[in-house]
Amino acid sequence: MAIEGQIRSIVDGMSLDEKIRLLAGCDSWHISAVGSASLPSIMVTDGPHGVRKQKEGAGLNDNVPSTCFPPACLMAASWDEAMVERVGCAIGEECIAEEVAVLLGPGVNIKRSPLCGRNFEYYSEDPYLAGKMAAAFIRGVQRNGVGTSLKHFAANSQEKRRMSSNSAVDERALREIYLKPFEIAVRESQPATVMCSYNMINGTYSSDNKWLLTDVLRDEWGFEGAVMTDWGAMNDRAKAVIAGLDLEMPGPSPRNEEKLRKALEDGTLDISDIDKCVSRIVSLILKTGGNERKPYSKEQHHKTASDMASSSFVLLENDGALPLGKGKYALIGAFAESPRYQGAGSSRINPTMLDSIRQSLSENGVEFDYAPGYIVETGESDDGLIKEAVETAMGKKAAIVLIGLPESYESEGFDRSHMNLPEGHVRLVESLIEASVPVIAIVLAGSPVILPFRKNAAALMYCYLGGQGLGSALASVLTGRVNPSGKLPETFPLSVEDTPCFSSFSTGEKNVMYTESIFVGYRYYDWCGKEVAYPFGYGLSYTSFELSSLSVMKNEGNVEVSLSVRNTGKREGAETVQIYVGMENSRIMRPVRELRAFEKVFLAPDEEKRISFTLSRDAFSYYDTVLHSFEVEDGEYIIYAGTSSRSLSLSAAVHIDGLMSVHGAKAEKGKLPPFESLFPSSLPLVEERGEITMNSTVSELLRTEAGKAVLGPIIKAASDAYKAIGGDLETMMMAMLYDMPLRSLSMNSGLDVEAIYKALKEYRRADQ
Ligand code: BGC
Repeated sequence: MAIEGQIRSIVDGMSLDEKIRLLAGCDSWHISAVGSASLPSIMVTDGPHGVRKQKEGAGLNDNVPSTCFPPACLMAASWDEAMVERVGCAIGEECIAEEVAVLLGPGVNIKRSPLCGRNFEYYSEDPYLAGKMAAAFIRGVQRNGVGTSLKHFAANSQEKRRMSSNSAVDERALREIYLKPFEIAVRESQPATVMCSYNMINGTYSSDNKWLLTDVLRDEWGFEGAVMTDWGAMNDRAKAVIAGLDLEMPGPSPRNEEKLRKALEDGTLDISDIDKCVSRIVSLILKTGGNERKPYSKEQHHKTASDMASSSFVLLENDGALPLGKGKYALIGAFAESPRYQGAGSSRINPTMLDSIRQSLSENGVEFDYAPGYIVETGESDDGLIKEAVETAMGKKAAIVLIGLPESYESEGFDRSHMNLPEGHVRLVESLIEASVPVIAIVLAGSPVILPFRKNAAALMYCYLGGQGLGSALASVLTGRVNPSGKLPETFPLSVEDTPCFSSFSTGEKNVMYTESIFVGYRYYDWCGKEVAYPFGYGLSYTSFELSSLSVMKNEGNVEVSLSVRNTGKREGAETVQIYVGMENSRIMRPVRELRAFEKVFLAPDEEKRISFTLSRDAFSYYDTVLHSFEVEDGEYIIYAGTSSRSLSLSAAVHIDGLMSVHGAKAEKGKLPPFESLFPSSLPLVEERGEITMNSTVSELLRTEAGKAVLGPIIKAASDAYKAIGGDLETMMMAMLYDMPLRSLSMNSGLDVEAIYKALKEYRRADQ
């Protein structure tokens, strides 16, 4: 029987109870079995950089061991789709071994600000790069018959108040920036599921947003899979069915089951609406639920994790100190023994093994003396630790200094409030430099930081978060066995004040205004002509490359671009050639140039290769806000080829036929248009009401007398429980709890939120 027929007959054979039950998980990580059709219960699990399978009945950090691959922040720096696909495939194999049907990843939210606490789980500030990386990852995982969940759909670029904030984004920014990576991944790789975000977009919760989940995702992009909620993101269950939201997670959800029954009775919903969602979940079970358990090789996957990391580290500065030579070095920094290698929250993996940097360097023949320099958990240092580090380093060839962000600095659940390194790390590096020690600084962090000493370091390498193979990968790159080839997937600004959304990011307000519109990341810095510390796409190598002989030719509606790349140095290495497109005389505001293609090219010394790209009309398009579609404007475009967004040695002009009359905001170069002018009528804002609703957050409620009386004791009990766990988990869980809307409080807690809601209302009534 064709699959559609099989699905129809299964759905026809299901009772209403069975259907309604299937629309929410049967626990935190499983979808119900369908007894009438003998369909198994399937398991979904985080994601994204490994399989985080929670042990039965255990907490967030108590997981079955699996390979911790480098998080997305580092994977994206590889600019290597084949490598990312290899990692995806290995994760798919681990899903099979653990009987997991759907992996909850990848995350493709745009890095609107370097401060987003969860940036380590996302790829880039650029939608094209993020989309391509996600598409490769999905191809890899799904090759095994395992599903993925592309998340968090959409416009969820901050953690502060993520469960109830309203992202106010103009249509063009949504289409060109925030939806684009999802569009690319869906069109290219058809993920089995998409996970909706917690927040509202222009006043509508993602879970209830028919425009988002059906008109755009399914009807325009051709998405064929199921949509699930983020954990606790369901707003209005009946509206969500109409919107095309199939599965509520976690479950079960008796409150929403009741709502569905009522909606069927009063005619808000028809059984055919329910059947559509049920069919898509049945299809997911059929597609992903039949895999036979097979073991995988831990050693091989560890090697894949290490290879992914060594292809991604970004060399920012080098005066010749790298690769390391003969002679004795100092190894400074407690990260050498306890490395920071992944982020905190729902993606945190319990690794199968973990390289120590100190040990890996020794095993690779590097001679050194070691000093810790700071306290690993806090990053604090003192005179004693610094003195010891300087004494250890004096007279050595150079000091390899490991610095970065301790775990407590960045996590799911909250945003950073600054971009600084711990003061202790900065003091340590500066003291070594003052003592005339050549410093090779190695930074471990999930996001960009300010590097005040960067021009005084002998070498500087950004390793992001390297996964469990970080140590061996680092040893390979420092000793020169592997030539660094990573390129920054985001801009490193000179200061946090320079970032495009500095004044509107993570303010704690309910309405988050995306005032910079399409000018995110390098699009903003280039538009304003701002100097940056390191531009998007930048990264050095131990060898050198030359680009030449650019040719640009029109061919049946496409533009064929080709050029030669030569390795002009003495080592083999890889260069990522980047193609940007710009239009100087546009009739509407446009970024100076935008990434439209890239290729990582591997070359032996003196080798030259001719590479080519086909640019379709998409590469020249903008989103027209009157026609509501991507269109091409008639005119002259410049095609740039280079090795970073600000190192573009080749360019050529090409005329593209298109619309003479285009619609969109206009703005003088370097200026942002008034935010209101980007919307057809008034700003799509929600009111910050004093009223108590199911969407009032815990912190809002605790500011009221009713909240203090009714909710206060419950929150106190929860916070005592988290205090007992302590550490970073406590900080994260408390941040999440305070930002949680009342309706989501029942998640994993068994709390009767309807009863709490009633009690709050009654208290308030009595009080007035
Ligand atoms: C996160 C998701 C994750 C889910 C399940 C949520 O808090 O936002 O990314 O997949 O939890 O752990």
